[in-house]
Order: sequence, then structure tokens, then C-alpha cells
Amino acid sequence: MKQKNISIPFTEYSGEAELPENIKKLVVEAKKSAANAYAPYSKFKVGTAVLLANGKIVTGNNQENSAYPSGLCAERVAIFYANAQYPNVAIKTIVIVAFQQNDEVEHPVYPCGACRQVILESQGKQTSPIKLFFISKEKIHSVENASYLLPLEFDKESLNR
Ligand code: THU
Repeated sequence: MKQKNISIPFTEYSGEAELPENIKKLVVEAKKSAANAYAPYSKFKVGTAVLLANGKIVTGNNQENSAYPSGLCAERVAIFYANAQYPNVAIKTIVIVAFQQNDEVEHPVYPCGACRQVILESQGKQTSPIKLFFISKEKIHSVENASYLLPLEFDKESLNR
């Protein structure tokens, strides 16, 4: 028996001013999208901006439903839309921002487990890694590879074991 550990590298920025210019643009788009979220139940509005390899920016926001599980997170709305419109174009970067009662959150919000699974499926279809940025008022976190968000994942290889 052997004890093993997994650690993940991530970057912390002290604020939006520190971000590269192209990411700042994605933040603006993610915030605009969050404003259009349909979140009457949680009042937690999430916006996602997805930068594609063809330079297009696709955005999405959370869509809730009175039958709660029928709703969908911002990340999956944006990624599925990107995949539907541009099925063969790689995803380069995903930016996520959230507002609670219309106030930007003070700590970064990370994608839920189901969204991580979907992000990894996209990364598995392309050769380049997907970078993610989690925006908040206090600080910003970023990972260089979506795999860091879901170690020991279930993927298409798992189906052949
Ligand atoms: N939500 C997202 O859209 N993305 C996340 O990363 C976390 C949660 C949504 C789902 C639901 O509409 C609301 O936020 C509260 O969970």
C-alpha cells in the first residue's frame, strides 16, 4: 500500500487590473452575460465567457426553473452553445463571474462538479488545454488546464477499461 497525493497549481491575481488585456475583455463579456441570467430562485447570477480558437467569444448565464433540477449553470449554457455553433473549434479560455443579489461575489466562484465534467469533455476533444479564470471583487484565481479541476476523472478512456 502506498499513500499518494495530488496537488494542483493555480494563480492568484490581486484584482482585474493584473489580468492580461484579452482576459479583461472576457471579464466584461461575462459580467454583461451575468446581468441577463434567469435566477429568480437563487438570486445568484452567474456569467461565463468562452474564448474560442477562432477568436469568437460565446457567453452564457444560468437559467433556473421552478422545477429546480431542470435549470442549467452558466458554464454549461455557454459551452453547449459554443459546441452547437462551432462544433470543431477548440475552447481556449473560460471566464466565470457571479453576482449575489446583484453584487459581485467577494470570493471566486468555481464550477460545480457537473460543469467540470462537461469542461473536461471539451478539453478531451482538443489538443490544447482549456484555461479558466474565476473572477471576484477580492481576488481572481486561474488554472492553466481544466484537468486540475477534476483529478481522477471519468473520461472516454474510462469506458474501455
Ligand atoms: N451556478 C452556475 O451557474 N455556475 C456555477 O459555477 C455554480 C452555480 C448557478 C446554478 C444556480 O442557478 C445558481 O447558480 C445557484 O446555485
